[in-house]
Amino acid sequence: MVTSPKSPKSPQSPKGEAAAPAPVSAPLSVEAQNAAGILPASHWTAQPLPEEDPGNDTASTIGSLASTSASLSSSIFEYRTIHGRTYHGQMGTAESWTPNDQRHVEAMEILHHALMVQTDGKLYLAPLEKKKIKKVLDIATGSGLWSIDFADEFPNAEVIGTDVSPIQPSWVPPNVQFELDDCNQEWTWGENTFDFVNMRFLTGIVDDWYALLRNAYRVCKPGGWVESSGTSVKFLSRDGTVKDGSAMDQWGKVFREGGYKFGRTFAVYEEDLQRKGMEAAGFVDIQFQDIEIPMGVWHPDKKAAERGLWWKLAVESDIDGYINYIWNAVLGWTPEEAKVFARHVKKEWNDSNIHSYFWMRVAWGRKPE
Ligand SMILES: C[S@@+](CC[C@H](N)C(=O)[O-])C[C@H]1O[C@@H](n2cnc3c(N)ncnc32)[C@H](O)[C@@H]1O
Repeated sequence: MVTSPKSPKSPQSPKGEAAAPAPVSAPLSVEAQNAAGILPASHWTAQPLPEEDPGNDTASTIGSLASTSASLSSSIFEYRTIHGRTYHGQMGTAESWTPNDQRHVEAMEILHHALMVQTDGKLYLAPLEKKKIKKVLDIATGSGLWSIDFADEFPNAEVIGTDVSPIQPSWVPPNVQFELDDCNQEWTWGENTFDFVNMRFLTGIVDDWYALLRNAYRVCKPGGWVESSGTSVKFLSRDGTVKDGSAMDQWGKVFREGGYKFGRTFAVYEEDLQRKGMEAAGFVDIQFQDIEIPMGVWHPDKKAAERGLWWKLAVESDIDGYINYIWNAVLGWTPEEAKVFARHVKKEWNDSNIHSYFWMRVAWGRKPE
């Protein structure tokens, strides 16, 4: 297993406010960046700045859902502040590459919708027998919307959503509860506890997918199911319109290096880790569905274009939140440099001559009776 370096916490001023942001960690050397095919910030800053699309401020137009935190020990709220955004600050070894502030919670709410659009509105693809589902675990629940929707659909099931950040709403159906838990530590639930374990979009947060799925196997009841959904960060095109050195090409490369640097891979799809981890843990009847997501709205098929539109909206709603940490950690870029890069990548997502797509995989398996 790869161990990840501890990120330094931001120094606190006497008033408890975060002082000037500390660098996340030492970036890759110029030689290593070159070897990974990553272009310097000057490549982007030297070009004319693409215009910001005024219609793209999705997060503010969709507005926020209530998201107050449960009463938890105040130390849990001591977040790291990096370049003006807050990140999860403690609990085991957990360091999340996404912020945990209100802006990003709203982005995760849009992401929930975007993910639902990809699966035609289905919260799960495993063949669950409704009457058998009594206890459900949702790992790294984020906004908590999956847990809430699942609890609505299964009113007789008890749903537990876990996360390292207490960012979930408190106004939830009575059969949902949120708990703080680091999915990379040994899970504390007893053997054979859950009928269904859901893990959606755990990209870049898992130390060891084999250990994660071993934990899931242990806590699953015999006959219970595990499901894992996630996307690749690599943009592809069949007609060569995603070019080497384009912003979309760089997007995948920088995330991939970030995964290597922190020991939490972003190449879950490419490394086939969902299926391999389930198999190694002992799950049977493993199946998966690969969903092709066209980025943006270029696709001639209306339904495919709608899927791409929602994905674009979800990421654009807080693109800074998605890239700031990794671009700083891997490349040492300032938030201003990352913002310039973000403009270039958004321009490409909005260019319908670029026929980009990426893969999402939903995999599921059953614990033998
Ligand atoms: C992309 S969001 C998850 C989205 C959610 N599962 C969904 O499908 O809507 C990633 C979440 O993982 C949480 N996280 C990061 N590291 C974690 C860890 N080690 N254990 C549990 N949660 C973690 C973050 O706080 C964040 O809320």
